[in-house]
Amino acid sequence: MKQISKAAELTAAVEKAKEQGLEIGLVPTMGALHEGHLSLIERAMRENDFVVVSLFVNPIQFNNKEDLAKYPRTVEADLKLIASLPQQRAKEVIAFTPSVDEMYPQGEPTEVYHFGPVEEVMEGPRRPGHFSGVAVVVRRLFDLAQPRRAYFGEKDYQQIAVIRALLDQIKYPIELVPCPIVRADDGLALSSRNMRLSPAARAMAPAINATLEQAAEMAEYEDVDDVKEWVLDTLASFHEVTPQPDGLRFEPEYFEVVDAITLQPIENWDDAGEHGAVGCIAVWLDGVRLIDIVKF
Ligand code: PAJ
Repeated sequence: MKQISKAAELTAAVEKAKEQGLEIGLVPTMGALHEGHLSLIERAMRENDFVVVSLFVNPIQFNNKEDLAKYPRTVEADLKLIASLPQQRAKEVIAFTPSVDEMYPQGEPTEVYHFGPVEEVMEGPRRPGHFSGVAVVVRRLFDLAQPRRAYFGEKDYQQIAVIRALLDQIKYPIELVPCPIVRADDGLALSSRNMRLSPAARAMAPAINATLEQAAEMAEYEDVDDVKEWVLDTLASFHEVTPQPDGLRFEPEYFEVVDAITLQPIENWDDAGEHGAVGCIAVWLDGVRLIDIVKF
């Protein structure tokens, strides 16, 4: 594994790989790597000759400055984790660790992306500018790494739809590879934000996934609206049914049942297209905003 922090150096390495006919895989991350990220990186190493893992906390996708300031930065540990993975098919693995100035040499980018309906639901209206900021950095990474394939986790389900829309707009011949959510043994979706949970909150958090799994079973015989209401009620009243210390409680922000590709809410299970329906949730717990999904 080689660490590169300069865009020009990455471009040079990529050009050389291209000349040799190597297939490039890109895994964009903001660092603070956990098993979820590593599953994407390992898959990229199995499927490509040359892998670029970017580690960059992208300031322009944070609509909340406190969240940006609190975002964990653990580059040294991240590099060790990447180096410890079996490289598989990949002949070369690059950890790209640019500074903000290196990514945005002209200062804060002014370009704004619009993606229509896929960004007008769920996270979109609640995090203004977020997906445009993601698109700006991901496009820059596409330009630098020129990947044949790019790997994204289904944990950030709407982000995948936005990247699909971005690729439609810019017409780059890049294969988008969605990867399944990696969970802790107790079912909690791994996230770098989990480390901000107190021990009691961490013990409570798996109830989110457990509730979604039960919802998937209910979907066999209940209507969409009833399942939605049940999920929101179950989490909102969780602390009453199972008393928690320190006034801990779930505060669900939304739970939407949407078509897996268009991300538009569906009213009946049959309204989903061939890729089915997905339930997407955002829940506050202990001052931390957790997201998760379930496939119906
Ligand atoms: P980050 O939150 O670091 O996530 C990097 C990638 O890892 C994303 O594609 C995310 O969906 C995936 N990921 C996170 N947790 C996962 C889990 N438990 N299982 C599977 N995959 C998981 O997403 C971003 O960074 C940024 O928005 C980025 C795309 C890098 C642009 O800045």
